[in-house]
Amino acid sequence: MIKISTSILSLSPSERVLSVQKLNNTNTDYIHIDVMDNIFVPNYQLPLEEVNNLGKYSNKPFDIHLMVEDPEPFIKGLTFDNIDTITIHVEIKKDIDKLIDLIKSYGYHVGLAINPKTDVSLLERYLTKVDKILVMSVEPGFGKQPFIETTPNKIIDIIVLNQDVLIEVDGGVNNNTISLIDGLSDIVVVGSYITSKEDYQEAINNIKN
Ligand code: DX5
Ligand code: ZN
Repeated sequence: MIKISTSILSLSPSERVLSVQKLNNTNTDYIHIDVMDNIFVPNYQLPLEEVNNLGKYSNKPFDIHLMVEDPEPFIKGLTFDNIDTITIHVEIKKDIDKLIDLIKSYGYHVGLAINPKTDVSLLERYLTKVDKILVMSVEPGFGKQPFIETTPNKIIDIIVLNQDVLIEVDGGVNNNTISLIDGLSDIVVVGSYITSKEDYQEAINNIKN
């Protein structure tokens, strides 16, 4: 069964603690935290202090998505222990190999994210070093965007390169678009489709079933 990583990006800062507590009572597999520096993407979200604060309220593993040019301070600055994965972007102008090793040195799983316009060949040399590939199905920076319909083809291109790496799809996933990636993705990030509903579990059931 597909795993779900619920993103709380579309909520206001004041709603996020309550939302994380609400998610404790659902079967979401992860909490997806989007961190943005207003450099790599045109948005500034979830400062490190807020992420560390949210970690205290959750009994779920955190799936942290760093849309930042300089991930190192964030990787070193996380202070809570229910962190499952840290994902960095293959497009950043930093030493990816060094960052992968740094993330691993903390005992976290490593994700490598790829933007919609980036060619999968850029991933090739890292596919045996990371735990999962985060395939962006929207341009990174905001929730509530429409799913990019060419995403399934991109996933297939990655699987052709390495059929063992886990695939996670991120952006615009809902009860309709989920069918487009059925069987192609191990994990899906779902934000506004879940957090816009009163009953989170019902929305999660619509995706899982
Ligand atoms: C976008 C983020 C996504 C986003 C998903 O840059 O990486 O995780 O929060 O939200 P929805 O599901 O609303 O597209
Ligand atoms: Zn994300």
